[in-house]
Amino acid sequence: MAAKREEAIGLAEAAGEMVAAAQKHLVQPWPTAGEIGAEARSGILSGDGIYVIDSEGRRLIDGPAGMWCVNAGHRRKELADVLYEQAMALSYNSPWYTMNAPSVALSERLAGHAPGDLDHVFYTTGGSSAVETALRFMQFANNVKGQPDKKMIVSRQGGYHGSTYLSASLNGRPRDHDWMDSAGDQVIKLNCPNPFRRPDGMSEAAFCDFLVEEFGAVIERAGAERIGAFIAEPVMASGGVIVPPDGYLPRMRALCAENDILFIADEVVTAFGRLGHVFASKDVFGIEPDMITFAKGVTSGYFPLGGVMISSRLFEELRRSNHSDAMFAHGLTYSSHPIGCAVALKNLDILEEGLLAHARAISGHFQQSLRTLEDLPLVGEVRGLGLMACIECVADRVSNNPLTLDVTVGKRIDGHCQELGLLVRPLINMCVMSPPLTITLPQIDDMVSILRVSIERTQDELVREGLWRGK
Ligand SMILES: Cc1ncc(COP(=O)(O)O)c(C=O)c1O
Repeated sequence: MAAKREEAIGLAEAAGEMVAAAQKHLVQPWPTAGEIGAEARSGILSGDGIYVIDSEGRRLIDGPAGMWCVNAGHRRKELADVLYEQAMALSYNSPWYTMNAPSVALSERLAGHAPGDLDHVFYTTGGSSAVETALRFMQFANNVKGQPDKKMIVSRQGGYHGSTYLSASLNGRPRDHDWMDSAGDQVIKLNCPNPFRRPDGMSEAAFCDFLVEEFGAVIERAGAERIGAFIAEPVMASGGVIVPPDGYLPRMRALCAENDILFIADEVVTAFGRLGHVFASKDVFGIEPDMITFAKGVTSGYFPLGGVMISSRLFEELRRSNHSDAMFAHGLTYSSHPIGCAVALKNLDILEEGLLAHARAISGHFQQSLRTLEDLPLVGEVRGLGLMACIECVADRVSNNPLTLDVTVGKRIDGHCQELGLLVRPLINMCVMSPPLTITLPQIDDMVSILRVSIERTQDELVREGLWRGK
């Protein structure tokens, strides 16, 4: 008893010190001006399987698997061992003038999983640099091919592609650009393919026609000779897990092919098992993109690594061009990092040896049990695919003060979930989930029970505070 109390006091002291130091020295992603440089977030001390332990000693289900990345779960000894062994064998080599065995072996394995002729990989440090690489490659290729005006990039409202300048310019979530500059003159944004928000009375099939026709009209207006690439997450992740209407991706892909526009599938979230396959483009949606960007789950988050799968056809076109001296002046110190690639190889073993099959086997239960929450009045829709899902609250339909409610409702649910043992990712009026793929059926049931109680508590709270009238 006394030992437990001492442990609790020790934890509290350590947590207090961590908060104080963070507030003085640490800057974390996406801060607001009002808190920048003075902010502390929940401290996470350790992880094991689908759980993390926070600085208050609470054991929480890691609902978002970090940031959609800890696919194989926390504390996997075989991944930690490989990391250590590779660091001891070769911790780094320059990709400028040398190469290492793990990156070559990984490229061969990834080419075996990628659709069509996506046989080549350029490695990066994460997702933003993967997207940036794909875009810079498109620009380079069009310069070499004598099409210097074919550079516009088409992205979508609701999409998220990164935080470097050009990748961030593609982002289309509300508030992404309110206070940030961007290369807006190089980007055209299409409507978000969110069936839940389609115009009243429009069928899903008609909505799909509308979206494809919109892209056709954009090509017509801007001119195919000015559009270099279309980029799309097969399922929009940070925009609220938006699964496009049936047939949308193949039809968008066909329009790209007809107009010599490169189709970049941003699979930073959807690859490496999240939808039950190494890559989702072909296996889930039946499309063969020209490039696929990936990151996150490639190492299950144990080491920062990303990359772009690139079509052999594009390289052949360059090799046949009249500019054999043209240089793709693009590279990162940590491209093809031996440790990242070694970890990714082991992670791929884990996926192939059963985790992909497990993810496919449990995803039906995951989706169905979460959908039972749709009987709660605050819940507008539960949607998702594979092991990614979103609960969208629609308090704004009956609220007198929609904005306040919209902004806080996800956070309120998250707060209750944390008290009960679950981390979720609050996104304005949504809660997003993408647990480690190792999650079991009873653990899914735990998650859903915690969510139910947390949403009920949030509903009661909103009514009590006069923010919501309930239904
Ligand atoms: C679809 C998608 N693309 C790109 C990125 C950027 O990746 P990173 O944060 O590793 O740079 C993200 C990050 O969440 C993402 O979800």
